[in-house]
Amino acid sequence: MITLKIDNQLRMAADTAYPHAFEAASQLLKANGKGNDFLGWVNLPESIDVTLLESINQRVAKLRIMAQKVIVVGIGGSYLGARAVITALRGEFADSKPEIIYAGHHLSQDYMFDLLKSLDKEDYAIVVISKSGTTTEPAIAFRLLKQHCESKYGKKAAQERIIAITDSRNGALKTLADAEGYTSYIIPDDVGGRYSVLTPVGLLPIAAAGFDIQAIIKGARAMRNQLFELNDNNIAMLYAKARNYLLSQGKSIEVLASFEPRFYYFIEWWKQLFGESEGKEQKGLFPTGMLYTTDLHSMGQYMQEGQRLFFETFISLKNSNNQCVIPHADDNLDGLNFLEGKTLQYVNEMAECGTILAHQQGGVPTLKIEIDRIDEYNIGQLTYFFEFACGISAYLLDVNPFNQPGVEAYKNNMFALLNKPGYENQHKDIEQYLKEL
Ligand code: PA5
Repeated sequence: MITLKIDNQLRMAADTAYPHAFEAASQLLKANGKGNDFLGWVNLPESIDVTLLESINQRVAKLRIMAQKVIVVGIGGSYLGARAVITALRGEFADSKPEIIYAGHHLSQDYMFDLLKSLDKEDYAIVVISKSGTTTEPAIAFRLLKQHCESKYGKKAAQERIIAITDSRNGALKTLADAEGYTSYIIPDDVGGRYSVLTPVGLLPIAAAGFDIQAIIKGARAMRNQLFELNDNNIAMLYAKARNYLLSQGKSIEVLASFEPRFYYFIEWWKQLFGESEGKEQKGLFPTGMLYTTDLHSMGQYMQEGQRLFFETFISLKNSNNQCVIPHADDNLDGLNFLEGKTLQYVNEMAECGTILAHQQGGVPTLKIEIDRIDEYNIGQLTYFFEFACGISAYLLDVNPFNQPGVEAYKNNMFALLNKPGYENQHKDIEQYLKEL
């Protein structure tokens, strides 16, 4: 279960400032807002085909037998959702197999060299994900990995170890997958990258890591049913209103903070979801993240006393999955016997409570999103909650949440610099520009 806690004053101010949140939310339901051809994710928890889930489970069962490592190749929305969910569910020390490794999410040569070298010794499979099928980072990574896989296993056996997830019709990856006969899964036309966790983009790697994708869908479905009730207590509307109200009050940065390191990549996914959906037309909160108490020993000073430009949203974990009880020590040299018999979860909760109070007293508005525990069902709920809230929030800003025109700028320069066919004129211009600098 997910709950949202906002103080009454903030809630009243946000309600007064954004009475039109109802319209914003109903635009998602009626599909009559900006970018309405990319609203397929809204109904995914209901509409997803059970046979698709079964097919994913059957296909990954084979991978899990043949591979010690599964390399998930993708970037942005084609990788962050899976990584967020897998990291949350697995934690840092699980020795469960297969290990999930990520590639194609940057262009580091050393990373790729080290990865390829490590694959000499271990059996692996590849899941390559790209909706457009033309994104440079995953395309280059896949070319290198495919070559490695074919030379290690032979072309035919390599084909058994590769799964492609891409568009139903277009793109180089689609052409390649068809030509090679890879098992392929389709990303629905009306679902964009960062909203695709509940499609094969997220579900297949999550299933490959051994998690229950049916339970994730079930959690998302429960949250969808809850959020479809557009009343005053709708938590997605409340969150969207509060964050936009705080933005209007000069708090231009939202810090998503958690005391649970398993949320590290969830925060990364959230940053992309909100950053890419809202950051356009010179609008939008700047989304960033903190993991406490770690970051209290690096950023704690700033959070307490630096410029008051931000507010904090805490993802607060109510129940951890296991227990560590602090033991008695006869000598009590560390002075910690006052905590004897207490769980580490209790100490962490007190640290969270103390931090929230300190930051509030330091002038930082705070919101709290509570999650019952980290399991597939609750993570499914949290994922859908943020997607729905993001859609409403972007509509309150009057931007299209489902495009990302700004991402093209770096690509155009990079292609011009790399002298990609079709970029000859830009190549000359950019060379000249750099010379004159
Ligand atoms: O959210 C998005 O749409 C983007 O972050 C894309 O997922 C990302 O750019 C990768 O695109 P593609 O899946 O086409 O390779």
